[in-house]
Amino acid sequence: MKTNVAIIGFMGVGKSTVGKLLAKKLGKQYVETDSLIVKRVGKSIPQIFKEDGEIAFRELEIEIIKELALKEGQVIDCGGGVVLNKINIDRLKQSSIVVWLTASPLAIARRTSFDGHGRPLLNYKNDITSIRSLLHERKPFYELASEIEVNTTGKSVELVVNKIIERLKQHEDFY
Ligand code: S3P
Repeated sequence: MKTNVAIIGFMGVGKSTVGKLLAKKLGKQYVETDSLIVKRVGKSIPQIFKEDGEIAFRELEIEIIKELALKEGQVIDCGGGVVLNKINIDRLKQSSIVVWLTASPLAIARRTSFDGHGRPLLNYKNDITSIRSLLHERKPFYELASEIEVNTTGKSVELVVNKIIERLKQHEDFY
């Protein structure tokens, strides 16, 4: 039986907003890998990338996912790069249904420039060309990892959440 929902997808697709409402509606706990990492090391994400490098960040991500995958009843908001290490997906899948949120490059550019998060991988510029190329690179990873896909472009949070719930109901192993 799976009691967690893991939300994956590119930066700025709306994972946190959707994840929070989904958790509320399902009566599950909302957890976010990025903030757990920040809490654990006492540094911001940009600081970790700058001082310790991306590999160190990915190792922290692996550590956090390993712990979360052992717990129950959560909506896990996964950093956009969680899918890059297959071990994360293997571990998540043992206890979670994996939901992939997508959005158009333009919608992503708009959201990432307004939400105030420092995103080292977009060089803090949120330019559409970097977004398009990284999206292209990442797409096969998200595709392979997910069981449910929902496009968020032009949809209200409520609608996206309802769609996810509808799709989750089709999974007999989800509780
Ligand atoms: C990353 C996404 C970010 C954060 C880090 C790296 C990525 O999380 O984990 O900046 O590799 O896509 P969000 O997807 O929540 O922005």
